Amino acid sequence: MTEPVPTASFEFAASPHRSRTIVRGEGAVLWDDHGGRFIDLGATHGAGSLGAANPEVAAAIAAQARSLVHLGSGYANPVRTEFLRRLLGLLPPTFGRVFLSNSGTEAVEAGLKIARSATGRTKVVAAMRGFHGRTMGALSATWRRELREAFEPLVPGFQHVPFNDVAALDAAVDDATAVILLEPVQGEGGVHVATAEFLRAARAAADRTGALLAFDEVQTGIARTGRLFAFERWNVVPDLLLLAKSLAGGVPIGATVTTPEVEARFRGSHHSTFGGSPLACAAGIAALDFVVRERLPERAERLGTIARERLGRLPPERVREVRGLGLLLGVELREKVAPTLAALESRGFLAISAGATVLRLLPPLVISDTDWSAGLGAIEEVVTHGSG
Ligand SMILES: Cc1ncc(COP(=O)(O)O)c(C=O)c1O
Repeated sequence: MTEPVPTASFEFAASPHRSRTIVRGEGAVLWDDHGGRFIDLGATHGAGSLGAANPEVAAAIAAQARSLVHLGSGYANPVRTEFLRRLLGLLPPTFGRVFLSNSGTEAVEAGLKIARSATGRTKVVAAMRGFHGRTMGALSATWRRELREAFEPLVPGFQHVPFNDVAALDAAVDDATAVILLEPVQGEGGVHVATAEFLRAARAAADRTGALLAFDEVQTGIARTGRLFAFERWNVVPDLLLLAKSLAGGVPIGATVTTPEVEARFRGSHHSTFGGSPLACAAGIAALDFVVRERLPERAERLGTIARERLGRLPPERVREVRGLGLLLGVELREKVAPTLAALESRGFLAISAGATVLRLLPPLVISDTDWSAGLGAIEEVVTHGSG
């Protein structure tokens, strides 16, 4: 009897890219097992912001691996302490506490548990089209029915309001609300940017009712939107900031950042065996240093502006809208996006979708000007002349 071939995950088995095997990368360039060269316009799902194999992150991983790969969180470790010091040093001084885990969904899950415990309440107000991960709590905050329905019943107490609808948000948030959970830019849901009014209203509603405000910056965090953190653009500071993806240069990490006041109200316990491992923290130190030294927020802003100018000139009969901030961009087509993705791939560019009709661009922030321009050129060609 032949053994079934294991796949990396169920989603991978159903992915349109399953026929492509990627074996290595450098910066924003990926190579497949036949030597084919591809520019990453989103293939690393935002976790490759610093490049596929950033040399500084790689050196930090190698050095740390020879010293101490893993240590339980019950013991102090200077690498972890230093990573937390640097991360908090990039954030407003109101923050001061961080729970480290291994992924975006865990960062969200910890945020939900902290909010419930600290407020003694259970209701969560999230946004339609929002995406927060696939574990049961984070999935309950996630909007898309196709992702949820096979796993119902989900966690009770979640209510979704239309994104950017201040009146609906105000009506939903009440004295039973533990937390308002929002993405400043909805990534998976189609690349929709929050309005300043909506985020300010969320802050005010939280303050009025005693709820906490959580920003899920798993996708927007660390330089992608042209700021280190997207919330800086609106100057609306949350009580909980949820981070992951490229925070450690591609090594699995999740971070739930909060204030000492919230921590003081937390009852119960939460823990992760691998969270805050010296390996991830060493990579995280190298990653944060790189982001700051290489001024990646400015780079994301500059390359994003170029893209919006160029993509904004695409023919309106093919493109409904171009949206986004920095290097998190969505091109909403007037037709299904799958043929466009396939046409881009055949030209050597790997992009992803955000829903059925949105081409989502979230390239490594280190992408060269030349490769970015080539990627935009390929999109212009494919979208203007059709994907044949
Ligand atoms: C905004 C947001 N939150 C949470 C997640 C879940 O992150 P992970 O896949 O690391 O669990 C994602 C993943 O794309 C995301 O974009």
